[in-house]
Amino acid sequence: MSKSFYITTPIYYVNDVPHIGHAYTTIAADVMARYKKICGEKVFFLTGTDEHGQKIERTAKQSGKKPIELADEVVVRFKDLWKVLNICNDDFIRTTEQRHKKAVNEIFKTIHGKGDIYLGEYEGWYDVRDEAYITDSQYEEFMELSQSKRPIIERVKEKSYFFKLSEYQQKLLDYYKNNPDFIKPENRRNEVISFVEGGLRDLSISRTSFSWGIPIESDDEHVIYVWFDALTNYLTALGYPDNKKMVGEYWPADFHFVGKDILRFHAVYWPAFLMSAGLQLPKTVFAHGWWTIEGEKMSKSLGNVIDPYKIAEEFGVDVFRYFLLREIPFGQDGDFSRDSLIGRINGDLANGLGNLVSRTLGMVEKYFDGLIPAAAQVETIDDKVVNKAADTATQYMNFMEEVSFSKALFSIWEFIALLNKYIDDTAPWSLSKKGETGRLGTILYNCCESIRVISILIYPFMPSTASDILQKIGCDMSVEDNGIGEAKKWGVLSAQSKVVKGANLFQKI
Ligand code: MSP
Repeated sequence: MSKSFYITTPIYYVNDVPHIGHAYTTIAADVMARYKKICGEKVFFLTGTDEHGQKIERTAKQSGKKPIELADEVVVRFKDLWKVLNICNDDFIRTTEQRHKKAVNEIFKTIHGKGDIYLGEYEGWYDVRDEAYITDSQYEEFMELSQSKRPIIERVKEKSYFFKLSEYQQKLLDYYKNNPDFIKPENRRNEVISFVEGGLRDLSISRTSFSWGIPIESDDEHVIYVWFDALTNYLTALGYPDNKKMVGEYWPADFHFVGKDILRFHAVYWPAFLMSAGLQLPKTVFAHGWWTIEGEKMSKSLGNVIDPYKIAEEFGVDVFRYFLLREIPFGQDGDFSRDSLIGRINGDLANGLGNLVSRTLGMVEKYFDGLIPAAAQVETIDDKVVNKAADTATQYMNFMEEVSFSKALFSIWEFIALLNKYIDDTAPWSLSKKGETGRLGTILYNCCESIRVISILIYPFMPSTASDILQKIGCDMSVEDNGIGEAKKWGVLSAQSKVVKGANLFQKI
């Protein structure tokens, strides 16, 4: 039986339309999901929208809408974008769905039954933008910021149910210690550990001063705190509590991919809720970094918010996917600029991969009427190529397993560089002049076969480009159906199959 694999993105707030930050996490999760699928694993890939809470209620009010009307509008933008970006999610959850209300109340009841929830009163600060409770000392820090950078923080005093988070401090610390892979990368893990070592206060998990949320069944004056509601989505989508089969098969999740700003909710609150409910903890919460735009923080007031639709339309979906995962190591912050995007297109894509494919196929057309020649006459220089193909596949898989997307891509591009050099060094054009058809055929066969291997390896990142290339080299396999194993084989392409050079894969800018 194949291994099951469950990966999630955060569910996105519907107060705003999608931007590059949303696209980034979702594309990264898509790459991992596609990779695991071609490794033969049974993948469940979840994304969705976070539709409750004070922020959504207010945004809707400001535009004269009901919260659900706002949600219904914005959710279309997200679903549509995921189609455009070629995201292969298996489910899309909206927290306003009935199935979710049920799951949230079930987990609330379970935790309540455990004795970890009590009724009290919350008096303190609340940050509506982040939907987060703020301590007095955090409040003081915020007040030191300039007016424009200060989040809107409000004083709240209301009846509330509390979760006994303070009782989970040591349990969490023990868990982090015994499960070094639970929080990644390492520096983020250390931040979480010191945060928890600093002490945990009980957490207010219900609100009574507004109504846009999931009512607590046993006390419907309260709606559930939006983060308690939102985190539960990861279980709802598996059919919790009723679908024991799905939950058994996919829980605990293999990865929650999240941005660094929401790590605390996923690595402190969520595991504590799960421990209390007697459920297993996700295997890894991976926090990625943030994009700045041309060196500046992305913000509406600066007017520099990057619209993923526009970038995909202008440069192409696969180019955008490639750039996001190649440009910065997953886990670190980085900068998005048109110059660096264009640099990658002209360099890595057009001059690197595009050129390799077009010159190889151009020569097969010119010297062999478009029919792939047989590898007839092998020399030592060819071994380098054959060995590099195998090494690249192995290295790539190791990097993918450790979520090092940029390194995985780098290893493919090292192979591409070696192949372009192989062509320069062996100079097929002069072999043709000299009539050395045996050598010429061998070199072009090796290049075509290497291109086949490359197309499989790039598939998770650039699914359409991968299938374009396979078509060009006359290989009628699909990476989805045949799997990553094909990248470790050599000699798969049959001589005499027809190639079609066609248009260039990437246009230089
Ligand atoms: N609704 C919560 C998540 C609940 S998960 C149970 C939320 N939603 S959000 O719409 O604000 O989505 C935020 C996601 O986008 C986060 O992962 C955040 O890190 C990411 N990004 C927002 N701006 C970003 C950048 N400039 N760069 C990279 N990612 C950024 O939080």
